[in-house]
Amino acid sequence: MAAVVPDIQTEADIQLLVDTFYQKVHLDALLDPVFNEFARVDWSRHLPIMYDFWSSILLGSARYHGRPFPKHMPLPIDATHFQRWLELFGSTVDELFAGSKAEEAKVRALNIATMFEYRLRKRDPLSLI
Ligand code: HEM
Repeated sequence: MAAVVPDIQTEADIQLLVDTFYQKVHLDALLDPVFNEFARVDWSRHLPIMYDFWSSILLGSARYHGRPFPKHMPLPIDATHFQRWLELFGSTVDELFAGSKAEEAKVRALNIATMFEYRLRKRDPLSLI
């Protein structure tokens, strides 16, 4: 019988989702260098921002007030990176949670990733040809 997993309901759930996702990012040969070599992310600062971001989206806490897209403009990322990001995020959600918030998390991630990828592609004039 499949294990019963809860839906995303609490701040502890958000933290578990974010922490587990970025552990997978660390182990990923495509994404890890973008975060740790190119951007040299300060994780003690970045993780709490991501808790606020996902808590605002999924629990309505309204704690995140940033503008995420500009942070991604200088990054050396394309469709391949977004595809991997979405695979890791989706598998993290599915391992830990099930329910309407879990589904919403994946839909929101897909929508935001699609929008980021589209806007980043416009950075490259050749992509318009
Ligand atoms: C290839 C995919 C992605 C990569 C490599 C990436 C990488 C990064 C990096 C390096 C930062 C800056 C961290 C810092 O300031 O130290 C960042 C910030 C952030 N990212 Fe991403 N990201 C990706 C996709 C996404 C997606 C799909 C979302 C949303 C669903 C997202 C949401 C955010 C948010 C909310 C921040 C914080 C912005 C702020 O400081 O207010 N990212 N990301």
